[in-house]
This record gives sequence, structure tokens and C-alpha cells, in this order.
Amino acid sequence: SAISAADHELLLSYIRDVPDWPEPGVMFKDITPLLRQPDVFAKTVDLLAAAADGPIDAVVGIEARGFILGAPVANRLGAGFVPVRKEGKLPSDTSSASYELEYGQATIEVHRDAFTDGERVLIVDDVLATGGTVRATVDLVRAAGAEVAAVSILMELGFLHGRKKLLDVDVHVLLSL
Ligand code: PRP
Ligand code: MG
Repeated sequence: SAISAADHELLLSYIRDVPDWPEPGVMFKDITPLLRQPDVFAKTVDLLAAAADGPIDAVVGIEARGFILGAPVANRLGAGFVPVRKEGKLPSDTSSASYELEYGQATIEVHRDAFTDGERVLIVDDVLATGGTVRATVDLVRAAGAEVAAVSILMELGFLHGRKKLLDVDVHVLLSL
């Protein structure tokens, strides 16, 4: 489900490059211009939702930017929304998964009762970089008894080869940078 060249150009034109953020040498991909333009935001949500092949019971959004995109995708699909949050934020019983960052470790969590066995889940996030975040999220969803129907990502930083960690998942990406 590759997007049209026109849509590719449109979305790309609303993503701002911010050099040396959050540290020197990093080119940050800022999606706030895209979010600010109602028609472009709506198109992005439609295109992210199109990754779903068959019915989706729940959309998982990954804190923080995955919340912004995932919640409207859930609404669009008539699905529920499940937040995967950074450690220590969810109030009830959680499962957790840890992964490597460039420096140190990160831990994310989901509520243990978020899914019913066999439910079909779509995972949404803004960026696929090293792949650690999505890998950990896939593992969390599966451990909770649900099926990962697909992963839908706005942009992939291909030079970081995050997909190598996701060979067992159906990954859809709107923009490859
Ligand atoms: C960013 C981005 C992805 C993740 C991708 O999240 O939003 O979730 O990194 O990186 P990876 O593929 O190397 O794991 P981050 O937690 O930095 O920021 P956020 O809270 O603004 O989403
Ligand atoms: Mg994130």
C-alpha cells in the first residue's frame, strides 16, 4: 500500500528539519507543521489507518508522539485506543518491556488487561529509527495475548535499519527518509 508521489511530497513538505536537536549532529524531524494543517493531518490519519488489512479491535499508540497520531487513527477505524506509556505512568497493573537506547535503556508499559486474547491490534508511531521502540511494543502486545495485525509508521529513517528488528511483523511506512 505505497502512497502516491503527490501524497508523499505533501506530507514531506510539512515535516520540518531541525538541525542539532536534541543534540549536535542530529537532524530532528519535526511533525508539528503537519499537525497544524487540518487537511494534511487528516490525510495522514487516513493513510496511517489504511495499513489495517481486516478489522482492528484496538490501536496502540506509543507515548508521546504515537498518541497524537494513534488516537485519531483509532477513531477513524472504529477501534479502541490503548496507550503504551513510558515507565511509571500507568495506574493499574502493567506489563513492561525494556530496550536499548543510544545511551542506556528505556522501559515502556501497557496495562495487563488492555486486550482480550486474539484481538487484532494496529500499532501506530511517528518514527521508526533503530526499531527498539516498536520491537518492544510488539512484544508487549503479543505477551498480553493480542495479535499484531500491522504496524503503521509515518516516517522511517532507513539508514538506521530498524526494520531488521521487525522481520516478523507487517510494517507499513508512509515516508522513507
Ligand atoms: C521517538 C519516536 C519513536 C522512537 C523511535 O520517541 O517518536 O517513538 O523515538 O526510535 P527507535 O526506533 O530508535 O526506538 P521518543 O521517546 O524519543 O520521543 P516522544 O516521547 O516524543 O515520542
Ligand atoms: Mg516516540
